[in-house]
Amino acid sequence: MKVAVLGAAGYVGGELLRLVLQHPDVTEVTATSRSQAGKPIAELHPALALLTNARFGAHAPGDTARGKDVVFLALEHGESSQVMGAVVDAGPGMIIDLAADFRIHDGKLHDLHYGPHQAPEMVHRFRYGLADVVGTGLHGAKAIAAPGCFATAAQLALYAVADLPLAAAPAVFAVTGSSGAGQTPRPTTHHPERANNMFAYGVMGHRHEGEVLEQWREWRRDPAAHARLMCHSGPWVRGIHATLHVPLSEPVFDPGAVVRQRFAGRPFVRVLDDPPELTHVIGSNMALLHAAASSDGREVQVMCVIDNLIKGAGGQAVQAMNLALGTDERAGLLAPGPFPC
Ligand SMILES: NC(=O)c1ccc[n+]([C@@H]2O[C@H](COP(=O)([O-])OP(=O)(O)OC[C@H]3O[C@@H](n4cnc5c(N)ncnc54)[C@H](OP(=O)(O)O)[C@@H]3O)[C@@H](O)[C@H]2O)c1
Repeated sequence: MKVAVLGAAGYVGGELLRLVLQHPDVTEVTATSRSQAGKPIAELHPALALLTNARFGAHAPGDTARGKDVVFLALEHGESSQVMGAVVDAGPGMIIDLAADFRIHDGKLHDLHYGPHQAPEMVHRFRYGLADVVGTGLHGAKAIAAPGCFATAAQLALYAVADLPLAAAPAVFAVTGSSGAGQTPRPTTHHPERANNMFAYGVMGHRHEGEVLEQWREWRRDPAAHARLMCHSGPWVRGIHATLHVPLSEPVFDPGAVVRQRFAGRPFVRVLDDPPELTHVIGSNMALLHAAASSDGREVQVMCVIDNLIKGAGGQAVQAMNLALGTDERAGLLAPGPFPC
């Protein structure tokens, strides 16, 4: 397969390159960048020196997409909307966008969280690629919007409880590492201000709540269903830890069994008997979950940990590609992460 990664100089682009360069079905990889065109890929992503001596190509979305089997876009928010027309016109076999541009089909919900859409006519081409939930439902998809990193962790926890009798809207408290903000330095990612620190952001309306609500309403079969996402920045580099809490209208005493049943047969989701730890997923495409009930069975908590750049971005996108192609969804994704890390 011939694969292209647009925006390959960023953190997500680098993870995508690492994965597709090791994918058994990928024979050719093209990486493009506006800022790094002509530079060796390994100069910017040093760990990839073992895998490639190629250079970044120039940013030319249409020309790059032409003749490719799969095109990944790992561009900043809003950029995908600018270039998607040229990419679509070039006719690649499949397009997978990792930005937020095409994740939300409900126009009002999109605009509430992101402002007016720059390419609203394109949105309905895209299937939402929450790979561990949609699974083989992605088979045959030609355009996929990969979910956001917070949204992935939150939705795996929400999907676990989506069929339970809920007494209120669930709330998900989640903390991410600094790589979630990309590689452009900002005050909130500057080491002296981020290390040993923690703070909330996007309070009462984090942008990822839009895509979370769209899926949650579908799972609950209720267009008014609500869920709250409480996002925080933590002092580590990679990984998201999310804890969902929800009161129940009828008691449930073995939520672990419910969650295991929800994810039965899903290769990258493991439901543990104890709360999961972040370092157990870093560097891998795994999601680890745990569920517990209060002694009266009237409250449930679900924890979920993921690597934001793999399960929350590049890994999930490659898994979605595998599912869309109808090949083994694990292809190129079985490498375990390092531990301890
Ligand atoms: N980070 C995450 O955990 C995560 C997870 C899921 C989805 N996403 C989404 O994926 C997309 C890419 O995110 P990202 O975290 O990869 O963002 P990023 O690291 O900021 O990269 C995005 C683009 O910024 C440009 N860039 C700006 N300054 C650069 C520099 N000094 N060196 C190299 N490149 C530079 C690069 O494009 P040019 O070289 O062409 O300028 C790069 O492709 C975003 O839409 C984001 O929302 C991110």
